[in-house]
Amino acid sequence: MQALTLKQTKSPLELLERSDPEPQADEVVVQLVAAALNRRDYWITQGMYPGIELPVVLGSDGAGIVVQTGSHVDASWKNREVIIDPALNWGNSPSVQSEQFTILGLPHDGTFATHVVIAASQLHVKPKHLNWHEAAALPLAGVTAYRALFSQGGLQSGETVLITGIGGGVATFALQFAVAAGADVWVTSSSPEKIQRAIELGAKGGFNYGEEDWHRKLAKSAGNPDLIIDSAGGPGYSALLTIAAPGGRIVNYGATAGPPEKIDLFKVFWKQLRLQGSTMGSPRDFQQMLSFVEKHKIRPVIDRVFPLSEGNEAIRMMKVSPQFGKYVLSIDQD
Ligand SMILES: NC(=O)c1ccc[n+]([C@@H]2O[C@H](COP(=O)([O-])OP(=O)(O)OC[C@H]3O[C@@H](n4cnc5c(N)ncnc54)[C@H](OP(=O)(O)O)[C@@H]3O)[C@@H](O)[C@H]2O)c1
Repeated sequence: MQALTLKQTKSPLELLERSDPEPQADEVVVQLVAAALNRRDYWITQGMYPGIELPVVLGSDGAGIVVQTGSHVDASWKNREVIIDPALNWGNSPSVQSEQFTILGLPHDGTFATHVVIAASQLHVKPKHLNWHEAAALPLAGVTAYRALFSQGGLQSGETVLITGIGGGVATFALQFAVAAGADVWVTSSSPEKIQRAIELGAKGGFNYGEEDWHRKLAKSAGNPDLIIDSAGGPGYSALLTIAAPGGRIVNYGATAGPPEKIDLFKVFWKQLRLQGSTMGSPRDFQQMLSFVEKHKIRPVIDRVFPLSEGNEAIRMMKVSPQFGKYVLSIDQD
């Protein structure tokens, strides 16, 4: 098999010939047709992620065909078209992942390869309405958006939702899911073009988070959001406490811009805000996300498809985030 391998942080990935994988009793081998990138892959290449063990094959998202099954795996999985739930060892609690939790693509070798070995329990049948690229784009960002919005954010139809940094892979799913759930969705972005794209996907409008008074403009146009989905944190976080509706919820699944400069606890307790963290999702979240995507025929937004051999270019582009939606790697088996 061939695999894009990270041998050293801050160095390009290398497309290496590796020995063909053998499944353990509970595992299968998936021959990958497509994989997708997440910001996590970029953070790992930069050495900015805990627990880096090298060499490693990056990639949490993948879709492909089961070509080999371990001795304890139901043989009917063989030849099926699948996607992979990349949340490994979630554990038994719906509230939080276990201490053994890891994500496919570190330390377990991931999907930037022609083949991946994975526990059969992580497999799901590929949704029929999605092509291979769309199917590969769904898992990590889709389940993160689903849990943030619904399991943690408690989104109800008719509520006003703000999603920050709409160009992001997770943020784009959150927009699509919230629109499908009947919410009034507003967005922020550094780019007017991305705001326009978001409006085409059903957002009511958007504002540039680089402008100091963006949150006042939002409150004037949209009122105060009941639910805010954020992955930026950083200096802009205090504006979220200001604009959240009384009794509102702010869910964070990331902190791309670093920790907030300050948190005004007076606003938090007087407005009775709920500040909620969220990370990926449980097996139940994943199953519910898939059902939701199938019910509403949601198609992931793909910005660009690269061949596996050009994975470094995709990682390089993530540094500056020109994308709207997901970068996908197309995997040839020659
Ligand atoms: N906890 C989890 O399970 C989990 C899962 C997935 C991701 N994450 C984290 O969530 C973050 C986003 O991940 P992703 O894969 O969706 O990333 P991505 O596709 O690379 O998106 C990054 C986007 O963040 C936005 N952004 C950057 N700085 C911002 C700021 N100061 N204010 C508002 N938005 C800002 C930009 O949006 P515009 O281009 O529109 O300006 C950019 O396009 C990362 O930090 C990632 O590590 C966490």
